[in-house]
Amino acid sequence: MKERTFVLLKPDAVRRKLIGRIIQRFEDKGFEIVEMKMITLSKEMAEEFYKMHKGKDFYERLIEFMTSGRVVAMIIEGENAISVVRKMIGKTNPAEAEPGTIRGDFALSTPDNLIHASDSKENAEREIKLFFGKLE
Ligand code: PPS
Repeated sequence: MKERTFVLLKPDAVRRKLIGRIIQRFEDKGFEIVEMKMITLSKEMAEEFYKMHKGKDFYERLIEFMTSGRVVAMIIEGENAISVVRKMIGKTNPAEAEPGTIRGDFALSTPDNLIHASDSKENAEREIKLFFGKLE
């Protein structure tokens, strides 16, 4: 089933010049990047994006990190994009992420775990709307 998911390369991915290598993995897998832009998140935008985590112990640190530099937002399209992209990025905590996954190969700890990807169809729609202003 062809579907669309939302991916955000976090400020550490941009700072470490990993944008090309990360996108290459998605293209090599067979996915298509159908929209992409580089921006710096405002505090308001980061808070809206992570509103379901408000109040958790890592929340303030996460917002600070996500607004600390430029990010790359993109819509990725392909068969089962939501679940396959989540598999490709690996577990949230890079120390537990399997080798072969993006976090497993390139990251060591939170919050600098390089990349976000939607975990459900509902969240993909919400996140695409938030960043690209339309429902897909
Ligand atoms: S939860 O509580 O299980 O719903 O949280 P989780 O899905 O693991 O993570 C939610 C997002 O918060 C980021 N995160 C953290 N940031 C900073 N510090 C710590 N300790 C931390 N733990 C989790 C995590 O990367 C998730 O963001 P995304 O954008 O989905 O990666």
